[in-house]
Amino acid sequence: MNPVKVGLLGMGTVGGGTLRVLRRNQDEISRRAGRAIEITCASVRDLNKPRDLALAGIVLTQDPTAVVDDPEVRIVVELIGGLEPARTLVLRAIQNGKHVVTANKALIAIHGNEVFEAAQARGVMVAFEAAVAGGIPIIKAIREGLAGNRIEWLCGIINGTGNFILSEMQNRGRDFAGVLREAQRLGYAEADPSFDVEGIDAAHKLTILAAIAFGIPLQFERVYTEGITRITRADIDYADQLGYRIKHLGIARNTGTSIELRVHPTLIPKRQLLASVMGVMNAVLIQGDAIGPSLYYGAGAGAEPTASAVVADLVDVVRTLTSDPENRVPHLAFQPHALSDLGVAPMEDVRTAYYLRMSAVDQPGVLADITRILGDRQISIEAILQKEPAPEERHVPIIFLTHRIQERAMNDAIARIEALPAIKGAVTRIRLETLE
Ligand code: NAP
Ligand code: HSE
Repeated sequence: MNPVKVGLLGMGTVGGGTLRVLRRNQDEISRRAGRAIEITCASVRDLNKPRDLALAGIVLTQDPTAVVDDPEVRIVVELIGGLEPARTLVLRAIQNGKHVVTANKALIAIHGNEVFEAAQARGVMVAFEAAVAGGIPIIKAIREGLAGNRIEWLCGIINGTGNFILSEMQNRGRDFAGVLREAQRLGYAEADPSFDVEGIDAAHKLTILAAIAFGIPLQFERVYTEGITRITRADIDYADQLGYRIKHLGIARNTGTSIELRVHPTLIPKRQLLASVMGVMNAVLIQGDAIGPSLYYGAGAGAEPTASAVVADLVDVVRTLTSDPENRVPHLAFQPHALSDLGVAPMEDVRTAYYLRMSAVDQPGVLADITRILGDRQISIEAILQKEPAPEERHVPIIFLTHRIQERAMNDAIARIEALPAIKGAVTRIRLETLE
């Protein structure tokens, strides 16, 4: 059989990795797919950029439309990133009757409903395994492997750059900015790295995971999102002394009456496997009613780990090229007409435990004032850590761990504590989950 011809949009970190993996493993890949897969054309922004890639047999162009309009191309792989021109190109490829593979989580999280509807109408596939958790086949695991379960919750380290930064700060005492620069150099970070460190990238991924886990529409705008830029070495050290690690988690939970969708730094017990996930590695913990907890671990970013997922999607698409579009696995795991209308809970309704750090004047009665504010709101204290003041310093750091309470009550308590004359500056609040 003739090779299946593929057009690449983008030849950067992931595009380059995809070309290398396809070439290196071409025999095994064609034995799996049943046909050879060949990249015949590719578009880049700058034709003059030096590229350490063997480009023989590939027509390189600066015009991405030429790739999506090429009549020979059966599958378009979108690896440009961002919303535009990626959305327009993907929709045009679909209108041209081409299948699409993409690693673009922003595109899927924000325009996925439109893209999948167009693909459904045209009878083509849009595959996006590489969009979440890099090389981990998490989309396939949830959409197919866990299809017999009612998924109760999932939580994961789903941004490699952020985990790399927190790990280097914790294990090597390195500073935030230096580690971020290294993540950029290694090709882990997004074009705009604030997407990584402010939690936006993780929120894109959580939107996708929640849709396929719970059968709800993609609703990125409803995800509560907090980044890691305010996490200090001091918080990492205090958490460590109390038996916890700080991880940047995406959490989605079906409470039965609503869905929680949140991305924020989180203290988790050191004994939890997720606490040992370091560097660029990602991991997703899923609680299903039948399987119980299951954990998926692997590289969350980087050229070849991400290419591993892109190429797996290519093989999947090639295997189903001749199948009836009606009988394919639904893009978002559930049949499009059978989505749930469960609403997303506002963050104020979420119940979680907390780590609080504050700077207080070292004088009698201050601790009593703080504990009274907490007690009046039914906030029960699990642990307190008070440090000695530095020489010549009137203020001491005090750290509280609390039991679970609704975020609304904690917001009120923090406002009252910050208003105490003995408290200097803002209270640092980091949520805490035991994951049990
Ligand atoms: P990248 O290295 O910046 O590569 C982007 C490619 O697209 C480059 O070849 C660039 O051309 C081309 N391009 C950029 N803007 C363009 C435009 N306006 N029109 C046409 N072409 C354009 O990005 P990447 O890291 O490979 O990421 C690609 C996608 O994969 C993104 O959606 C990203 O979120 C996703 N992803 C990345 C990773 C990772 O570890 N990097 C992991 C998972 C998913 P030039 O080469 O000429 O500049
Ligand atoms: N910038 C992303 C990350 C790439 O660091 O996780 C993988 O999606």
